[in-house]
Amino acid sequence: MPLSDSATAPAKSVTLPDAQTVTAVRHWTDQLFSFRVTRPRTLRFRSGEFVMIGLMDDRGKPLLRAYSIASPTWDEELEFYSIKVPDGPLTSRLQHIQPGDQIILRPKPVGTLVHDALLPGKRLWFLATGTGLAPFASLMREPETYEKYEEVYMLHTCRGVAELAYGKELVDKLRDDPLVGEMARDKLRYYPTTTREPSPHMGRITDNLNSGKIFNYYDIAPMNPRDDRAMVCGSMAFNIDVKEVLEGFGLREGANSDPKEYVVEKAFVGDGI
Ligand code: FAD
Ligand code: A2P
Repeated sequence: MPLSDSATAPAKSVTLPDAQTVTAVRHWTDQLFSFRVTRPRTLRFRSGEFVMIGLMDDRGKPLLRAYSIASPTWDEELEFYSIKVPDGPLTSRLQHIQPGDQIILRPKPVGTLVHDALLPGKRLWFLATGTGLAPFASLMREPETYEKYEEVYMLHTCRGVAELAYGKELVDKLRDDPLVGEMARDKLRYYPTTTREPSPHMGRITDNLNSGKIFNYYDIAPMNPRDDRAMVCGSMAFNIDVKEVLEGFGLREGANSDPKEYVVEKAFVGDGI
């Protein structure tokens, strides 16, 4: 797919550095896919950050949306993990990209799900629903994550089993990764759950934290502000409810300019809250 719908029309609003080439696409379900693109040579980002990516619309204007970078900082390419919204202005088209196509990528990474926004701690919790896994797909592959923490917990919840596939494969591969495999085998504890289809682990993240189920499962002390740090990425409703749970354990919300015990990012906007 060229940047413009008309293959001959010049991409007027796109300066050359903002066009990147798709190198791989993988469809996980009829609602989820991941893809890789070339990385601008000058792009530096912190693991957990997001950028604006998109396509040209029918009128030749860039149609951009926020996307977490799912690949680690050391990767030569950039990876993204995406929803397919049937009527979504961007993803109704983005879901059809093929290797060789071009997308727009604004190389200005930002975001709060970064190590710098947390005070030092012992245990790090990644709490995600749906495509909220994306920033943690980066952070789980980052050596810094394991250098900074003794234990790393990845809790990912979806409605059904198929939606967990991208995360499961990523964690499986991670354990054999030459760079972080040994640290991940030692420190990463992956706890995927479903809420609407039977699977080995069930239940909402909020319920599994509130009930103590997760702490019992790993035979660890409940969360406390001295040891625990958390990063949260899901729907607005999820983020609001998780914040309440974390505050209940005594953790405080931090930011880049004011590191504390937990940080939150929206996985998407527009679910009515
Ligand atoms: P939109 O008009 O943007 O959305 C239409 C509706 O679809 C929304 O109102 C919402 O109800 C629903 N929706 C949108 N995105 C999602 C989603 N990810 N999961 C569930 N429902 C959704 N999306 C990703 O797929 N991967 C990412 O890594 C990602 N990172 C983001 C980071 C940030 C900081 C923000 C704010 C959003 C992120 N999004 C991500 C959402 C993304 O920006 C777009 O909303 C999404 O690509 C759909 O675009 P659209 O134009 O097709 O539909
Ligand atoms: P549930 O099936 O019990 O609603 P969604 O697809 O609606 O964004 O939800 C993705 C996952 O996040 C589902 O497993 C859903 O559980 C869970 N979830 C949705 N809202 C919340 C919330 N407020 N607190 C905890 N988990 C939530």
